[in-house]
Amino acid sequence: MSTHLDAEENISAPPMECDPMSFRELVERLERQSAPPTLEQLNIWLANARISREDLRSYTGFKEGNYWRHRVFRNDSVEMLVLCWRPGHKTPIHDHNGSHGAVKVHEGVLWETTFAYDKDQGLCYRTMRECQAGEITGAGVPDIHQLGNPEVSGQDLITIHIYAPPLGVLNTYKVGSPVIDLYTPDDSEA
Ligand SMILES: [Fe+2]
Repeated sequence: MSTHLDAEENISAPPMECDPMSFRELVERLERQSAPPTLEQLNIWLANARISREDLRSYTGFKEGNYWRHRVFRNDSVEMLVLCWRPGHKTPIHDHNGSHGAVKVHEGVLWETTFAYDKDQGLCYRTMRECQAGEITGAGVPDIHQLGNPEVSGQDLITIHIYAPPLGVLNTYKVGSPVIDLYTPDDSEA
């Protein structure tokens, strides 16, 4: 079973064979994938991607009430998104229903909380971490987590996400409850 710790180990591992690449080169690399890349590959690519605010201009936009997901690319193997969060915006507690994913903080502060699921005790709090601009966090299978821009950050948050295979319907959880619900991410503008 992959754990959150595994993901952190991937991040701190020495850089693998991958030259620095531009935003466009990263997207082109994703377009060439005919099978889902590993979590380790996603972490390496994001770590070596040089992405500017200008690169993200057409994927940057905020809405009130909830974070806004902007899709950069999607095929059958992999997808890339840019998420824009006002202070206080957060995801439900979720897993990725069989996909793994890596997230790079482009601007702002990301809080990530991880959880463990026990069918007798229900969902239990596990760890909390903060990621600053440039940092990467990864979620394996079946990691359960919640991401958000803390209310107290006082600034917007922009994050870059790559999922393999692309996300479908997610599983959501509530602390102290064994109930698992389904959730379809909201891509609408309102
Ligand atoms: Fe997630």
